[in-house]
Amino acid sequence: MLAKINWMTVVNTVILLFAGALIVAIVQSMGKPSVQNANNELPFYTTADPDLERAGSDLYRSLQCRNCHTIWSVKSVYQSVPAPSLDGIGSLRNEEWLYRYFSSENPQEILPSRMKEKYKMPSFASLSEKERKVLAAYFASLRVKDWYLDETISAEQKKLTGK
Ligand code: HEC
Repeated sequence: MLAKINWMTVVNTVILLFAGALIVAIVQSMGKPSVQNANNELPFYTTADPDLERAGSDLYRSLQCRNCHTIWSVKSVYQSVPAPSLDGIGSLRNEEWLYRYFSSENPQEILPSRMKEKYKMPSFASLSEKERKVLAAYFASLRVKDWYLDETISAEQKKLTGK
């Protein structure tokens, strides 16, 4: 005897399967870096020793930098402001610059902003000197790999010159 097919159950199962696949896809894309080369290699690295890396990451989390910034090219679920990514920032700014920036009462004097007031880089001048030093040292340690710079420059050149 043929079992009677309950179409509602079939439809429900299909919907559940789709929803499940969608959730898996979303969760996977959240944890995935957006830039990688063919070997799944991130173009970013840190020169920090493990102690500095821990201290810097802890401050990054507790001071809620991740509400605005991206790091390790993974957008945090907390991020609500399109502030510049801090990946490789140490290849752009040195430790002295970063220390001055984090210590400034008005960071926009050093780096002008086009953001709305509430999205601008806040002043961290009220942190202890030790904390500002850790931040400066940690962010100075975040570097960009040469192959990524080379690729970025040649892609930019192609865009500008068509060659
Ligand atoms: C309210 C959002 C917000 C928070 C929180 C925040 N930033 Fe920023 N940050 C920005 C914006 C926006 C800029 C770009 C300059 C501007 O618009 O003021 C910036 C710029 C920077 C820069 C300079 C980037 C460059 O291109 O030179 C560094 C470094 C930086 N932030 C580090 C941090 C660190 C470290 C923390 C946490 C201690 C932090 N930021 C917290 C919004 C934020």
